[in-house]
Amino acid sequence: MRTISLLNLKGGVAKSFSAVNIAYELWRRGCRVLVWDNDKQGNLSKAFGRYDAGQTAPVTKILSGDWQRPEKLIQPTDYEGMDILTSNLSLFGASFRLLAGEQDGQTERYRRFLAAEAEERGKTIADKYDYCIIDNPPDIGINVVNALAVTDEVIVPVKIDEHALEGLDTVAEQIADARVFNPSLALKGILITVYQNTDGESAGLEWLRQEWDNAKSKNYRRYPILGVIRYSGKVAENSFVRKPIYEYSPCCAAAQDYKKFVSSYTGIGR
Ligand SMILES: Nc1ncnc2c1ncn2[C@@H]1O[C@H](COP(=O)(O)OP(=O)(O)O)[C@@H](O)[C@H]1O
Ligand SMILES: [Mg+2]
Repeated sequence: MRTISLLNLKGGVAKSFSAVNIAYELWRRGCRVLVWDNDKQGNLSKAFGRYDAGQTAPVTKILSGDWQRPEKLIQPTDYEGMDILTSNLSLFGASFRLLAGEQDGQTERYRRFLAAEAEERGKTIADKYDYCIIDNPPDIGINVVNALAVTDEVIVPVKIDEHALEGLDTVAEQIADARVFNPSLALKGILITVYQNTDGESAGLEWLRQEWDNAKSKNYRRYPILGVIRYSGKVAENSFVRKPIYEYSPCCAAAQDYKKFVSSYTGIGR
């Protein structure tokens, strides 16, 4: 299983929207996908119609180590072959208690879950999926550290504005720190989101591209641009419909761009 985390310290940069649509595109290509809502706001859970405010959420149980049969925490989505681990506000309390308690293996809770034995003999939970997509909150708490412990690749969604790159170095530092307990963790690069082809934004994108070219020649670390997702009026009009965009507007720019991005990123065409 390959695990991809969407991470940025800012809110409103389309982390959740990208998680939904990347997961969906992988599913459409026939991959078995586990989506993991690691944000107490539960936007990913809402997108798949699985949000439940009334119960202790499965992700909270994983973080507090309060589970026995791992498969009981996983719910199917409406898309066969794509499952979800949901979240809600209960995640906040669990993070706090875990930090306050200074228990052992604080950063190993998510790893323990994925390594747990599945009902099918000889398989772990991770073995059941091709991809795990983790949607993160705009901060780095103990739940995010746990996510980094199981992540192979971090993608940073970025919306172009004058502060677009703010906080990116902090993300990079956290990732470097997390490599101590997860050597295979890699910061893959930036996904430009909600892109509008105005003079200001195209100049911003050009500037980012040059930064990357300069960085290559100067041999210091910058972040490659992995793809560009255009703004779609359809998404904005339907912001209360959090479903995968391809489901209600397959031809719009955002749907086409997520499709293109997933093909180029994974090499699996469709
Ligand atoms: N390509 C797009 N075109 C138009 N609106 C978008 C696009 N991508 C995301 N949005 C909107 O931007 C807002 C923030 O997205 P969201 O995924 O919730 O951000 P985050 O998870 O980073 O806080 C949402 O209202 C979403 O519908
Ligand atoms: Mg979000």
